[in-house]
Amino acid sequence: MSADEPAVLRVATLADGLRVEVRPLRLEDREEIAHGFEGLSERTRYLRFLTLKGELSERGLENLVDRVDQHDHVAVALWWPRRSTDDVLLGEGRFIRLRSDPETADVAVTVADEIQGLGAGTLLMSVLADRAREEGVRCFTAVMSGENEPSHRMMMRVGRVVRDVLSEGVREIDVELPPVESQEGA
Ligand SMILES: CC(C)(COP(=O)(O)OP(=O)(O)OC[C@H]1O[C@@H](n2cnc3c(N)ncnc32)[C@H](O)[C@@H]1OP(=O)(O)O)[C@@H](O)C(=O)NCCC(=O)NCCS
Repeated sequence: MSADEPAVLRVATLADGLRVEVRPLRLEDREEIAHGFEGLSERTRYLRFLTLKGELSERGLENLVDRVDQHDHVAVALWWPRRSTDDVLLGEGRFIRLRSDPETADVAVTVADEIQGLGAGTLLMSVLADRAREEGVRCFTAVMSGENEPSHRMMMRVGRVVRDVLSEGVREIDVELPPVESQEGA
């Protein structure tokens, strides 16, 4: 972590009362990311990667952790900090700037099955939107299964939908992020 990088980006409470922290993803989190992936259900893995991923390969881990530069590839991790023992990784989210359009980034979020539907995805997306504005990204784009209603809703909540196309079971959605001053509850 660089000296000017904050250790905690956001502290929040999920709908079940669990207090969580969103922090920048770091190289030291490699093992936890691999471990967290193993704990995901087949459905969650499929919805996240749109392919049936059995296990996370070394290359997959490189893509998810080593390639994060916190500028063109920004990644954050959701932690449950526990006093007496190690923190637990509960989710991650990232955006990767498009080479063809540096003000647009591809965004994706994963939340552990046990805590889905409690606001963690929306929280991660909100932190990513803040980081995006800091990095000069104004638009998020995502590709998801047409049946992925939580992801669709999460995207609709982060900004103004400028494209939303559903074709052959796959949805492509582009969202324009609101400027900082018009953010809800900021
Ligand atoms: C998609 C995902 C990240 C959303 O995170 P989450 O913590 O489960 O979602 P939230 O609790 O923040 O809810 C997001 C929205 O979906 C709605 N929602 C949550 N669970 C839902 C369900 N089972 N069915 C329909 N809507 C649901 C919420 O009400 C909320 O909508 P609202 O803001 O309009 O009320 C998470 O479910 C996940 O990891 N899914 C598998 C991987 C994946 O699909 N990643 C996204 C790939 S682009």
